[in-house]
Amino acid sequence: MPQSPRKIIIDTDPGQDDAFALMLAFGSPEDIEVLGIVAVAGNVPLALTQKNSRMICELAGRSDVKVFAGCDRPMKRKLVTAEHVHGKTGLDGPSLPDPVMPLQDQHGVEFIIETLRREPAGTVTLCPLGPLTNIAQAFLQAPDVVGRVQEIVLMGGAYFEVGNITPAAEFNIYVDPEAAELVFRSGVPLVVMPLDVTHKVLTTKARVQAFRAMGTEVGRVSADWADFFERFDMEKYGSDGGPLHDPTVVAYLIKPELFSGRVINVEIETQSELTLGMTVADWWGVTDRPKNALFVGDVDAQGFFDLLTERLARL
Ligand code: RIB
Ligand code: CA
Repeated sequence: MPQSPRKIIIDTDPGQDDAFALMLAFGSPEDIEVLGIVAVAGNVPLALTQKNSRMICELAGRSDVKVFAGCDRPMKRKLVTAEHVHGKTGLDGPSLPDPVMPLQDQHGVEFIIETLRREPAGTVTLCPLGPLTNIAQAFLQAPDVVGRVQEIVLMGGAYFEVGNITPAAEFNIYVDPEAAELVFRSGVPLVVMPLDVTHKVLTTKARVQAFRAMGTEVGRVSADWADFFERFDMEKYGSDGGPLHDPTVVAYLIKPELFSGRVINVEIETQSELTLGMTVADWWGVTDRPKNALFVGDVDAQGFFDLLTERLARL
């Protein structure tokens, strides 16, 4: 008996790599039902992440999807953005038309709360691809919804790979460490895609060529996004392409067998300025702290790109 599609809310700060995650979800209707997209301030300010979210929906032919604006800054800190990686617009590379589809009036955090209260308990998965501000605010404003979340599958953190925005911290966690601490201590089942695994899914020339060879607008734009997005990581790490961080979250929902990791304790540093936002992963089990997360460390990279390319070709 085929399983019914997994109901998800994507919380996102597009970001070229976020775009691949949204398009992978849209290209997989038999696996994923997107209940809504909530934009958060992160890679670029909220005014751009909500606009970019709508542009991606329209590129994928999904102007029917509801897009909401969530929080425009972290819970307690000044917003840190990443134009140095994603460009001024957050989706630099190809030029896309401004969105025509509307932004929903309802605040994104309210949408998350309302959806979790409406849908049967344990049937909605949250997929944060940026700072965890919206998720934390939803849990603070409506503690009754925490126990109704099926699972949180997020991109964020780093352990063996260490940080990408500071020596100790990955960007999504670093931007709002207090939000991350609240989410990681919430008790909701967590699957974490850290840099340890996302740095293994690189947009090599052959993989970008496979996007372009689709001969579709999605394929062309995807290849142009990859060409722009990879330059930061290639200069910094000397890697053979850029890491497609965020679509690992959606790929895990579709084909979890592509990934492997350990269920361990992961805590967030919120006090020390030196290591602020670090995900302290007890990979070797040296503490008796609760094992709150599946911390993913490995992936079948070619299997991931084969899935991504196959599903994007459907759009
Ligand atoms: O550190 C990588 C993460 O930060 C990705 O989600 C990227 O889109 C940015 O949000
Ligand atoms: Ca992101």
